[in-house]
Amino acid sequence: MSSTELRSQRLNQITHEPHARLDQLVKAQAPFASLPGYTRFVKAQYLFQTELQALYRDPQLAILIGDLPQRCRATQAAADLADLNAALPAGLPGAVQQPSQAEALGWLFVSEGSKLGAAFLIKRAEALGLSQSFGARHLGEPEGGRAAGWKSFTRMLDTLPLTAEQEAELDRGALAAFERFTVLLEHAYADAPQAETVQA
Ligand code: HEM
Repeated sequence: MSSTELRSQRLNQITHEPHARLDQLVKAQAPFASLPGYTRFVKAQYLFQTELQALYRDPQLAILIGDLPQRCRATQAAADLADLNAALPAGLPGAVQQPSQAEALGWLFVSEGSKLGAAFLIKRAEALGLSQSFGARHLGEPEGGRAAGWKSFTRMLDTLPLTAEQEAELDRGALAAFERFTVLLEHAYADAPQAETVQA
């Protein structure tokens, strides 16, 4: 890593393509065209957040990011599903298992970064009559604000001493997180009737 390139910027760059692909995939499912379609999207988000819960609760990682446990959105996604009268989905094999610390930070980078895109998504959810206190809690503004939460996360990441090997693990974790979200999203929409995935 050169001194002029921040680690978080490198992560942004290496995940640019998977992010663009995921963005397209989300849009192709038209999650904001109907409540049943949106419910499927929340199920994917719920599973992703639930799979990351052990990382958000990890005491070693919490040394690096003090408010880490509060950053997880599994509870909010579960409450959203209750608002939508939907059952919690069953887990899907393939969740991340005991990653190294650097790999875990790659996963958390993606989960935390997704709160930035959520600022756009919640506006679409509002058009369905939802809000950050009903049905779209997991897309809501985190306490302290989106920008501040992201800045404190990336500042920590950018100043952490890592070996070259850990640096590679970090990248692997971030890429794996995008792959996993893609799998969960495809699973959530696998049996969707066409009417749920047509743009309004
Ligand atoms: C599971 C992971 C992610 C998902 C599902 C996701 C999804 C999305 C979607 C669907 C949009 C488009 C919103 C719209 O235009 O209506 C978006 C935008 C955005 N996302 Fe993500 N995202 C994820 C991870 C990340 C990460 C890791 C970052 C930052 C490193 C990030 C930063 C942004 C930003 C800044 C936008 C705003 C528009 C743009 O600049 O393209 N997202 N995201």
